[in-house]
Amino acid sequence: MLRARITGTGSAVPDKILTNSDLEKMVNTNDEWITTRTGIKERRIAADGEYTSTFAVKAARRALEMANVQPDELDLILLGTVTPDFPFPATACIVQQELGAANAAAFDLSAACSGFIYGLNMAEAYIKSGMARKMLVMGAEVLTRIVDFTDRNTCILFGDGAGAVVVEASTGEHGILSSHIYTNSSHWGLLYQPGVGGRNPGSAKSTFEEKLYYLRMEGNDVFKHAVRAMGDAAVAALEYNNVSADDVNWLIPHQANRRIIEATGKRVGIPEERIFVNLHKYGNTSSASIPIALDEANREGRLKDGNLILMDAFGGGFTYGSVLLKW
Ligand code: COA
Repeated sequence: MLRARITGTGSAVPDKILTNSDLEKMVNTNDEWITTRTGIKERRIAADGEYTSTFAVKAARRALEMANVQPDELDLILLGTVTPDFPFPATACIVQQELGAANAAAFDLSAACSGFIYGLNMAEAYIKSGMARKMLVMGAEVLTRIVDFTDRNTCILFGDGAGAVVVEASTGEHGILSSHIYTNSSHWGLLYQPGVGGRNPGSAKSTFEEKLYYLRMEGNDVFKHAVRAMGDAAVAALEYNNVSADDVNWLIPHQANRRIIEATGKRVGIPEERIFVNLHKYGNTSSASIPIALDEANREGRLKDGNLILMDAFGGGFTYGSVLLKW
């Protein structure tokens, strides 16, 4: 049976760090509040001249190098993002050009913070069906470009960066065992970016005075939905594969809030020491958070051959989902 196997990981984040104490000088907040409510200590901020594609290309090169795959061997490039370089063309097209991956079809995937899990789900489908053999799946964001740095409810949470994986067709037992994606759109208005788009075309008034360009979020409500949805998606993956939480070596969840991650761990039955967390360094990087975490865990040597790894995400839409794989 053909399986979709991750053969290389890579990530890239901006050099510029914004700490909680930097934020104390910008809005009415403090390190203690941010740390206890979210677990975040600092986040990375793209500099002028750095875009989503900047980090995606760097992450992709690292993943390709690890997998020992040349760019022209790729037949598909999927990039999850809600902060593309342009509304069109897709940022994946810019990545394709920069890598010189001339044989790959390339497109973006808009599933907010679940973008990478949605991408792996597509990778599994393409590879199992025989329609692709070597793919690049990425999550990349410059979320701080759409964050209102006068709004303490949101500006403390988000950061920039990218993660990438090479996914290849494989015949062994390693690779994605199952992937599960879901959408519950009844509350999409709790987390969204009103403009610029068809409903709110750009204008000096709407874009900046009315701040339609900035993401809007009802944090408290989103929190409750995130806890329920991430728990449901993780349990679905375990039940589908008939494995227990004790069998899982690593839970690599979307890094939005430490309390959401802890609640998910409790619901699923995976203790803290088997949950990979790096959000204290990067905040919520949306679709990039899981592939950055996966790459860090991989490069730190924590992922062993044959390990069971559960990835679990939730994001605007609401989208959510999980992937269980054998490393
Ligand atoms: N610093 C200090 N106080 C703050 C603050 C900040 N940065 N942000 C909000 N507050 C205040 C609020 O104004 C409120 O004050 P009030 O009680 O006087 O009205 C109080 O803190 C509690 O606010 P609340 O929103 O209930 O806090 P919370 O415990 O829900 O934490 C979030 C807020 C945003 C951290 C939390 O709801 C969260 O993480 N939500 C999910 C967000 C998320 O992950 N989104 C992306 C999903 S992919």
